[in-house]
Amino acid sequence: MTRTRKVLGVILILVAVGLASLALALSHDSPCGPAPVLPNDAKLMKAIVYRCYGSPDVLKFEDIARPTAADNEVLVKVHAAAVNPLDWHYMRGTPYIMRMDAGLGAPKNPQLGVDFAGTVEAVGRNVTRFRPGDEVFGGRTGAFAEYVRVREDRALALKPANVTFEQAAAVPIAAITALQALRDKGRIQPGQKVLINGASGGVGTFAVQIAKSFGAEVTGVCSTRNVEMVRSLGADHVIDYTQEDFTKGGQRYDLILDNVGNHSLSEYRRVLNPKGAFVVVGGPNNGQWIGPMIGPIKASLLSPFVSQKLVMILAQLNKEDLTILHDLMQAGKVTPVIDRRYSLSEVPAAIRYLEEGHARGKVVISLE
Ligand SMILES: NC(=O)c1ccc[n+]([C@@H]2O[C@H](COP(=O)([O-])OP(=O)(O)OC[C@H]3O[C@@H](n4cnc5c(N)ncnc54)[C@H](OP(=O)(O)O)[C@@H]3O)[C@@H](O)[C@H]2O)c1
Repeated sequence: MTRTRKVLGVILILVAVGLASLALALSHDSPCGPAPVLPNDAKLMKAIVYRCYGSPDVLKFEDIARPTAADNEVLVKVHAAAVNPLDWHYMRGTPYIMRMDAGLGAPKNPQLGVDFAGTVEAVGRNVTRFRPGDEVFGGRTGAFAEYVRVREDRALALKPANVTFEQAAAVPIAAITALQALRDKGRIQPGQKVLINGASGGVGTFAVQIAKSFGAEVTGVCSTRNVEMVRSLGADHVIDYTQEDFTKGGQRYDLILDNVGNHSLSEYRRVLNPKGAFVVVGGPNNGQWIGPMIGPIKASLLSPFVSQKLVMILAQLNKEDLTILHDLMQAGKVTPVIDRRYSLSEVPAAIRYLEEGHARGKVVISLE
């Protein structure tokens, strides 16, 4: 008995030391490293880079080596990029848990940005889907740069002719999130009553339009200054959250897509039909450790014990969904909403603005 207790004690101490070391490693911020020395004959391009975690002040506008396309890759000359909350999560290295992948102490990859649109500059010799000159849009880390290289089988698709590069660049993360949240997690059906909380932001402006394209009756929730904009996107009903709390109203919904996380789970469930679905897309950035993951974790833990479906989403960029969005844009069913435009060197200002949490549609970076 005494021996078993001793062994258990040692195991507990080892687990505690292990967890404390992991916590220290995850929360440690290394100082910013120097820029690498580039070979004299290197072909250069302008890009936004960061070599330590922190505020937008860590972002530098620098010359770095221009990429070349491998056999299965496409080299794209970027005309426009878009900013997403994901970019500032990477920039700050928070929630800390994401540093397991992004890099302990400092980012492994100094380049930032994902969403882009541009023209194919060159293709690798095994590439069959694209040719130089094609106008494309897609997602790949390092989009805040003059050139980006992407595998042809990854998140890359032709840009529809009826949208601009800026509009196409606004699409990948936000619209794929909206599409996958409504279709795959929410199992949206025609005629359903769907509520989008945070209808005026990047994900929300796409979600309203995509839910309408599925034939749903859509209610958008936003502040006073965005009511007309959300209505113009096709929302059947708009609730101004400064005047009315939708969780206290009499209306019940079949599907709630939540980009904000400003209500408790029981408040959302109160206005969800007994067989309805609640999809958590985003939440408040509470704390450095698991931050916006608290809401999704609570919903996933409760879901097996209630008749309603409570789920979270982690959107996956892929060429199939970009092609669906291409078709929706071409058919005029989805039109990206652009809030502000910044130049490549102004990415820090663009991120500062997005971090305020009140973008109207998408914030884009123009390289033209
Ligand atoms: N799970 C995933 O895979 C995934 C993917 C993409 C994004 N996300 C997350 O989803 C969230 C939304 O992303 P986003 O790109 O749409 O962000 P965003 O563009 O910054 O959205 C901000 C919007 O939130 C609205 N908002 C703020 N407070 C509100 C409230 N109390 N009620 C209703 N709306 C409110 C703002 O409208 P007003 O100005 O009118 O207040 C603004 O339009 C973020 O937390 C992001 O991290 C998750």
